[in-house]
Amino acid sequence: MTPLHKEKPMNELPVMQEGEGIMLFYPHVPKKAIEAVTEVLQSRWIGQGPRVAQFEKEFEERFAGKGKALAVGSGTDALHLAYILAGLKEGDEVITPVFTCTATTIPFLYMGVKFRFADVDPKTLNISTSHVRELVNEKTKAIVCVHYGGLPCDMDELLAIATEYNIPVIEDAAHAVGATYKGKKIGEISPFTMFSFQAIKAMTTGDGGMLVLQDHAIVPTAERIRWFGIDRSNKQKGTWENDIWEVGYKYQMTDIGAAMGLAALHEFDQTLAHRQKLFQAYKRGLAGAEGITLMGADSTDRTHAAWLCTALVERRQEFMTRLRDRKIESGQVHYRNDRYTVLGGRRDDLPNMDAIEENYIVLPLHMHMNENDVEYVCQVIRSGW
Ligand SMILES: Cc1ncc(COP(=O)(O)O)c(C=O)c1O
Repeated sequence: MTPLHKEKPMNELPVMQEGEGIMLFYPHVPKKAIEAVTEVLQSRWIGQGPRVAQFEKEFEERFAGKGKALAVGSGTDALHLAYILAGLKEGDEVITPVFTCTATTIPFLYMGVKFRFADVDPKTLNISTSHVRELVNEKTKAIVCVHYGGLPCDMDELLAIATEYNIPVIEDAAHAVGATYKGKKIGEISPFTMFSFQAIKAMTTGDGGMLVLQDHAIVPTAERIRWFGIDRSNKQKGTWENDIWEVGYKYQMTDIGAAMGLAALHEFDQTLAHRQKLFQAYKRGLAGAEGITLMGADSTDRTHAAWLCTALVERRQEFMTRLRDRKIESGQVHYRNDRYTVLGGRRDDLPNMDAIEENYIVLPLHMHMNENDVEYVCQVIRSGW
């Protein structure tokens, strides 16, 4: 007999409604963004225009060192562009983390690039540099790393491997606006760094992204590929001869997004400080708590951008249920990428990922929370599950 209702999978908890308790995520749109977007909407130019240029300029002054920033329609666009600009071609091989958003891996499918998944470091949830060492060989054309949750990867080791093999590191810093590694900003370290401004990121343009390039020589190519392969500046000068000689995409940001981005950038110091304060409150509140280990709480040589507060917990399902009962949302958020058929399915050389698969968890951390909220979450956790 067919059951009337499908059995719910074990990890499915009722969806929490806004106002019911502490949500896992909440978008942060500064008030000034609303005014700035209104102004754009009342102007003649709402597509890619002067505000995009301004946002790029101010973003690069703040985060890119000597690099050049290119605003795009999403973080995924930025990754795809970075992979193209790194010279990756069909059949090339790259090393990329298994534990990340699918956005890190999916563009390789667009390009026919072969990817080898590197295991996770269970102490940070970032890429395991020792596994990268094992995987790298003469065929490897690039190493991709993700600063998971906003905690920078072991860049010295990754750059050392990359230098040895004369290949680039591509940093997926989707989570890491404002993070630093050994005194350097994420954005000024590798030849390619991308950021995401998707709805729930620390800085949002609704959807959007930024690609930072350290090599200025490839900027004109990047600008063309961002816009169909057309040299837009020549076109605007009226000297465009209408030739396109490379495949381009429609990856530009609009002035509407850039107006939001500029407003977010102007108050980013406060945003980052608030998020980092909440992370520190978790650190204090969970110190010594049994059955839970906060990720990234002990690093002294890098600063956490505190986009996600991640931990390893025992009996995750019971943990989530207990929190949910006390009106606190938690979740896995990201899944090992080899769970997806389209990405080639389950691998058997990722023991660390296997070991933490049932234990990692993301706790709420956003601008609609204060330290008392964090203390409440920690109290619930400390009372056991
Ligand atoms: C690690 C990581 N990389 C890339 C992306 C893609 O960014 P976007 O959603 O802006 O395309 C995301 C998701 O937002 C992400 O979490």
